[in-house]
Amino acid sequence: MKAWHRLLLTLLLWVELEGAVVMANCIVTDPEYGDTGRCVCPANVLQKPLQMMMCMQMSELELQDGVLQLDSKYLSFQGSDEIGALALLPLERILLTRVRIPGVFLSTLLNTLPRTEVHQFDLTDTTLEALPHPPNPTEPCPVTSLRMDRVTFDPSLLRPPMHPLNAWLLSSLTHLTLRAVPGGLSLGNEACATIAMLANVTELDLSENSLTDESLVDLSRCLSSSVPPVSSLGLSVLRLGQNQVRSLEGLCPLLRASPNLTELDLSQNSLDGSAFGSACLNSTGQLKTLNLSSTGIQTAVGLVPAGVEVLDLSGNRLREFRNPPEGLRELYLSNNHLSLLPDLTGASQLQLLSLDGNRLTDLSGETSFRLVLDRLLELRVGRNPFTCGCEVIKSVELLRGNRNKVLDWPDDFLCTPLASNSTTLRLEDLDLTNCDQAVDETSSSGMKMNVNVALCMSVVVVAVTAILE
Ligand SMILES: *[C@@H]1O[C@H](CO)[C@@H](O)[C@H](O)[C@H]1NC(C)=O
Ligand SMILES: *[C@@H]1O[C@H](CO)[C@@H](O)[C@H](O)[C@H]1NC(C)=O
Ligand SMILES: *[C@@H]1O[C@H](CO)[C@@H](O)[C@H](O)[C@H]1NC(C)=O
Ligand SMILES: *[C@@H]1O[C@H](CO)[C@@H](O)[C@H](O)[C@H]1NC(C)=O
Ligand SMILES: *[C@@H]1O[C@H](CO)[C@@H](O)[C@H](O)[C@H]1NC(C)=O
Repeated sequence: MKAWHRLLLTLLLWVELEGAVVMANCIVTDPEYGDTGRCVCPANVLQKPLQMMMCMQMSELELQDGVLQLDSKYLSFQGSDEIGALALLPLERILLTRVRIPGVFLSTLLNTLPRTEVHQFDLTDTTLEALPHPPNPTEPCPVTSLRMDRVTFDPSLLRPPMHPLNAWLLSSLTHLTLRAVPGGLSLGNEACATIAMLANVTELDLSENSLTDESLVDLSRCLSSSVPPVSSLGLSVLRLGQNQVRSLEGLCPLLRASPNLTELDLSQNSLDGSAFGSACLNSTGQLKTLNLSSTGIQTAVGLVPAGVEVLDLSGNRLREFRNPPEGLRELYLSNNHLSLLPDLTGASQLQLLSLDGNRLTDLSGETSFRLVLDRLLELRVGRNPFTCGCEVIKSVELLRGNRNKVLDWPDDFLCTPLASNSTTLRLEDLDLTNCDQAVDETSSSGMKMNVNVALCMSVVVVAVTAILE
C-alpha cells in the first residue's frame, strides 16, 4: 500500500469513527533557519491523531505533558507494531517532554524509527517504562543525535537482555547527551558492551550524573577492553559538568585517547587542587574551549594549554591570573579573589573579558589595562569593592569613556560611603568635580582626601535625599 493511501485510509477510518470535525490543539512554532518549524502537541493528541494533520509539513514534532498512549486502531494496517503515520511525515526530530512512555509505545516507536528520517531524538523530564516485548530492529537506526535530560528508566531497560537494543540505538550516534539520568550510566563491567558503541560519538555530554574519578577510569577501561579495543575516540566535545570528578587522573586516559578534543567542560566539580595540574590537559593538543568554572581551584598556573581560545575560570578562588594563552579570545574571571588586574598584554586576540565580583578597587593603575581595554569588545567589571572617594576618579573616567563596551556599567558599580550610614551609591552618580586637586596631591596626606570625599559625599547624599522626598 502506498504511503499516501495508508494515510488516507487512516483519515477516513478516523472520520468514520468519530464523525466530527476536529479542533486542532497543536501549536506550530516559528521555523528556525533551515527547517520548517516545530509542531508542539499535548501527549493526548495520540488519542485523536487527526489533530496532528497540521504537523504534516513540519520537520519537528514535540509531544508534551501526559502519557503516550496509542489507540490500537492507529497502529499500522500492515499488522506489525509500528506507528504507520509517523513514517509518512517528513519528520527529522522528535521531542518527548514531561511524558510517561509505556513500554508498548516505546516498542512501537523503536520499531518505526528505521522507516523514518528522524535523526534527532530528545527526551526531557521523561519516564521510560519496561518493554513487555523488546523490539528487535534489523535495519540501522537513523538517529544520530540522542538527548536525554532528566530521564528515569525502568531498571529492566538497563539489564543485559536490553544490551543489543541499546547498542543498536547507540552505535549510530554522533551526539549523545545523558544529563541527570540516574542509573542510565552504569559504566561497570556489565555495560562495557554498550559503552564501546560510543566509538563514533563526537559530542558527549554526561553532565549532572554523580560521575566519580572511578567511573571515568571504568569508562576508559571499557573502551580499551572492548573487542576490537577502541584505541582512539573521535570526541571533539566532552562535557562533564556538575559531577563528582576530583582529579584529572581518572580523566587522563580518556583525554589521551581523544586527539581531536576541542572543548572540555569540567565546571562545578570540586577539583582537588593538589592532584590537579597534570600534563594530560596538554596532551590533547587541540583544546580550544576549557570550562573550569566553580571547581574550587586556587591557581591556574601551568594548567591552561597553549591553544585555548575560550577560558572560563569564574567562581573560583584565584588571587591572580597571568601568562594567558596567546590566542585567547574570551576570558571569564568573574567571582574570584583578584585584587590586581590580570596581566593580559600577551593576549592580543582578547575580545571578551569578565572581572566582575572580584576584589578590585582600582582599574586605572596599570597602563597595560588601557591597552587591553582598547582591544576588547565587551567587558564586565562591576560588583567590585570600589570606594566612593576621589581615588576612583580615574577608574570612573576610564569606565565612562568606554561605556559602550562595559556591559554592566553603570548599575553594577556601587560604592558605600565611609563617613555615613547612607545606602550604596552608583559610581556614575558620584560628584567628583572637586577631586582634581586631591588626585594631584596623592603623595600628600590621605586625610585631606578623606575630608574632600566626605564633602563630595554629603553633597550627593543631600541631593539624593532631596530627590527621594
Ligand atoms: C563507526 O563508524 C565506522 C565508519 O562509519 C563504522 O565502520 C563503525 O562500525 C562505527 N562504529 C560503531 C561502533 O558503530
Ligand atoms: C581526528 O580528526 C581528523 C581530521 O578530521 C580525522 O582524520 C581523524 O580520523 C580524527 N581522529 C579520530 C580518532 O576520530
Ligand atoms: C561554563 O559552565 C557553566 C556551568 O557550569 C556555564 O554557566 C558557563 O556558561 C560555561 N562557560 C562557557 C564559556 O561556556
Ligand atoms: C601545559 O602547557 C602550558 C602552555 O604551553 C604550559 O604553560 C604548562 O606548563 C603545561 N603544563 C604541563 C603540566 O605540562
Ligand atoms: C548609623 O546607624 C546606627 C545603627 O543603625 C546608629 O546607631 C548610628 O547613630 C548611625 N550613625 C549615623 C552617623 O547616622
